[in-house]
Amino acid sequence: ASTLAEGAAQHGRYFGVAIAANRLNDSVYANIANREFNSVTAENEMKIDATEPQPGQFNFYQADQIFNWARQRGKQVRGHTLAWHSQQPQWMQNLSGQALRQAMINHIQGVMAHYRGQIPIWDVVNEAFEDGNSGRRRDSNLQRTGDDWIEVAFRTARQADPSAKLCYNDYNIENWNAAKTQAVYNMVRDFKARGVPIDCVGFQSHFNSGNPYPSNFRTTLQQFAALGVDVEITELDIEGAPPQTYANVIRDCLAVPRCTGITVWGVRDSDSWRSYQNPLLFDGNGNKKQAYYAVLDAL
Ligand code: XIL
Repeated sequence: ASTLAEGAAQHGRYFGVAIAANRLNDSVYANIANREFNSVTAENEMKIDATEPQPGQFNFYQADQIFNWARQRGKQVRGHTLAWHSQQPQWMQNLSGQALRQAMINHIQGVMAHYRGQIPIWDVVNEAFEDGNSGRRRDSNLQRTGDDWIEVAFRTARQADPSAKLCYNDYNIENWNAAKTQAVYNMVRDFKARGVPIDCVGFQSHFNSGNPYPSNFRTTLQQFAALGVDVEITELDIEGAPPQTYANVIRDCLAVPRCTGITVWGVRDSDSWRSYQNPLLFDGNGNKKQAYYAVLDAL
C-alpha cells in the first residue's frame, strides 16, 4: 500500500483523521489529508457550542465545510459529538434538571436531522466517566439530570437517524485493568442486556506518560467486541510518536475483527492539540515521520 487509507482498506478498515476547518486552505495540510485518509472527524466543528450557539438556533457553517470537503473527496465522516460535559455553549452550561435534559434531546435531534442518512457513525456520548479508581460517572450538569441521561441520549439518537451507528467514546479506557475501563464495559454490557441502542465504543487512545499504551489494549478491544459492539480507535496520538507503539496499536486493531477503523487526532505535529508532544505521523513541514512508516508497514 502507498497510503494509510489504502493499507487499512486492504483489511476492510478505514483510516481517518481529525480535521480543523480553518486549516483546509493550507494546501500542504489539505493535500496530506486528502491523500492519506478516507475518513474524517471534525476536531471541533460538530461539537455542541459550534452547532447550537444559541438555544434552538443551529449553525452548521463550519461543520458543513468539513462535511462537504470530505464527501466531495469520497471520504466517510464520523460525527463528533452530541452529548458531552465539555464545549457546551454558555446557555447550556446555565441549564439544569428537566430543561437541560430537554435541551440535550433537542440538540441530538437537531444535529442528526441535518445529517440524517449522511453520517454513518456518531459519537453520541463523550467522556461520561470519572478518571481514577472510583469507576463512577463523571460529575457534570448532564449527570446531575439523572443516571439515565446516557441511555436517553442513545435512544434519542437511534430515533433521529436509524441508519447511523451509535458510539460511546472515552479516553483512558484502553487499559483492561483500569477501573474506568471496567465501568464503561459494565455500562455497555448493561445496555446490550436491556436493549439500549449502542453499536460501538470509541477508544480515544491519547497515549502519553500519564496514560501509556497498555500491552493489554488488544484484550480490551476483544472484550468489548465480545459484548456485541464494534470498537474503533477514534483519536489516536502518542507522545513522542514512538514507531513501535504506533505499530502495536495498528496490530491490535487488525487482530480484532470488530475493530473497524483507526483515526489519528490531527495531520501534522503542528496541528495537534498537544503539539508540544510531537505525537502525530507527519512533522510540522508535512514530512512523513518514522511512525508513519511503522504504521504503513503494520497495515
Ligand atoms: C480537543 C480538540 O483537539 C481541541 O482543539 C479543543 O480545544 C479541545 O478538544 N477528547 C475529545 C476531543 O473527544 O473532542 C478533544 O478535542 C480531545 C479529547
